[in-house]
This record gives sequence, structure tokens and C-alpha cells, in this order.
Amino acid sequence: MSNNLLAGKRGVISGALNEQSIAWKVAEKCVEQGATIVLTNAPVAMRMGEIKGLSERLNAEVISCDATNMEDLNNLFSRSQEILGGKLDFVLHSIGMSVNVRKGKHYTDLNHEWTKQTMDISAMSFHKMMQVLYKQDAMADWGSIVGLTYMAAQRVFPDYNEMADAKAMLESIGRSFGYHFGVKNHVRVNTISQSPTWTTAGSGVKGFKEFFDYAQKMSPLGNAPAEACADYCISLFSDFTRFVTMQNLFHDGGFSNMGMNPAVLGL
Ligand SMILES: NC(=O)c1ccc[n+]([C@@H]2O[C@H](COP(=O)([O-])OP(=O)(O)OC[C@H]3O[C@@H](n4cnc5c(N)ncnc54)[C@H](O)[C@@H]3O)[C@@H](O)[C@H]2O)c1
Repeated sequence: MSNNLLAGKRGVISGALNEQSIAWKVAEKCVEQGATIVLTNAPVAMRMGEIKGLSERLNAEVISCDATNMEDLNNLFSRSQEILGGKLDFVLHSIGMSVNVRKGKHYTDLNHEWTKQTMDISAMSFHKMMQVLYKQDAMADWGSIVGLTYMAAQRVFPDYNEMADAKAMLESIGRSFGYHFGVKNHVRVNTISQSPTWTTAGSGVKGFKEFFDYAQKMSPLGNAPAEACADYCISLFSDFTRFVTMQNLFHDGGFSNMGMNPAVLGL
């Protein structure tokens, strides 16, 4: 159902790989709420092709961009402003990847070259995006930038591996840039710390099913699904959250504040 919360707004959504992607749901809901958007993903994801169907359905252009590449990012945000006809009201960073996780490398035996890649793709790309947006003066006054993160930034989830360190960095970048963007032109920057979610990135983590089930039981509201995460993103892109900035916002059914839930112990 649409309330036209984003009527007249322009935005860029990264990270829609397939129907399971959190960004996929965000893109759908942005358009449903009256926004016009540009979709973007890494060249390799574009070759997989599913994003084309979404782009046609939402009447949204797709721009190929490796989020670690400054030239690509400069092109992404200048082209997006041309296509959408003005400055951007919102941007979603929904990007994460770890070669160590993919290849089953243990945290005590990391390949540090791959770790550098993880940090670049999963954390520094958030800074790179914002630096380009800042220098191009591409964000409209009172705009909103959101990054997606996970609670392993605060607590230990051993199989999340070095992605935990990347998420800690991502959240810190959100706070630091939130200051500079706020002072510049009232742009807010927040991260959403989402429940475990069945996506390509999520299910790549070892023991994901068991952990998903555990978090489901532990959270009084259950795990937050991708659709609900998209709703939360919409609220942060809307004018109803204009003074929320530099926050890491838990969207996890209450998981992060639980100590023990009898349901987990079968009581
Ligand atoms: N799935 C979960 O359990 C969960 C929980 C909390 C947070 N998150 C975060 O949500 C975000 C989105 O992940 P998702 O779960 O929707 O999975 P996903 O696999 O659908 O999305 C990850 C995206 O990152 C993109 N990407 C990878 N390298 C890139 C690069 N160099 N340049 C541009 N894009 C690149 C991929 O193409 C993909 O679209 C990630 O930041 C992830 O860490 C996921």
C-alpha cells in the first residue's frame, strides 16, 4: 500500500542482486512510495542479469559501478543526477562481500590480501560513496543516506569472520560522515543493523540456518524480514525522520537487547 511518503524524491539504490536482496525490496518500495530511482550494482552482478527485469518493471535505469572504484562512483552519481533531473534525496549502500568467508578461511587464519578486499568492498566503499556525493554536492538539503550493517560489529559471532570488523568500520564511517554532511547541508547518515536474512550474502555465512533459527527464537518479535527492513529504509528516506542522524539503528525484532529467552532453552 502506498502513502506516497517519497513523492517527488530522487534516489540511488545499490546492491539489488536478486529477488532475495534487501536492496531489491527497498527499490520496489521506493517506487511504490512515489520516488524515482536509479539502480546500481557491480559489473559482475549486472552480468548475472536479474537486475534488468527489476529495472524494466520499476522504469529505473541501471548504472554499472564497482563501489570501490572512484571513477565508477563519480560517473554513477553525476549520471544519476542527469537521469533523475536534480540532486539526490536518498542513497542506499547495500553492499557486502568477503572472500575469506566465501573460501571458508577461519578468523585465526585470514588471508590478509582478501581482508583488504573485504574492507574496501564492505566498509570503505561507504566512505568512497559519500566522499563523491559530498564533493559533487550531489545530495539535496535534508537528504538521507543509509548503510546496512549487522550486530557482529558490537558482539562476537565467530562465523561472521572479518566481516564483523568491516561492519564496525562501516558504522564508524556513518557516524563520522554524518557529522560532516549534517553541517554541510543537513544530510543525515544512518546505518540499519538488520536481523539475519536469507539472501546471497547472508546465507554464505557458515552455519547460517542454525543461527537464523536461534535468532528467530531469541527475538521477541522474531527475525525482521527483508520487506520490513525495506519499510524501515523508506521511513529513513522520508521527511518523518529528518533529525535522526549518526545512529546505528537496530532492526532485529529485539534480539540486540535480549540476554536469555526461555524459548531458546525450550522452557
Ligand atoms: N543477509 C543478512 O543476514 C544481513 C544482515 C545484516 C546486514 N546485511 C547487509 O545487507 C547488505 C545487503 O546484503 P544482502 O543480504 O541483501 O545480500 P546480497 O548478496 O543480495 O547483496 C549484496 C550486494 O553487494 C553487491 N556487491 C558486492 N561487491 C560489490 C562491489 N564491489 N561494488 C558494488 N556492489 C557490490 C552484490 O552484487 C550484491 O548485490 C550488506 O551490507 C549485508 O552485509 C545482511
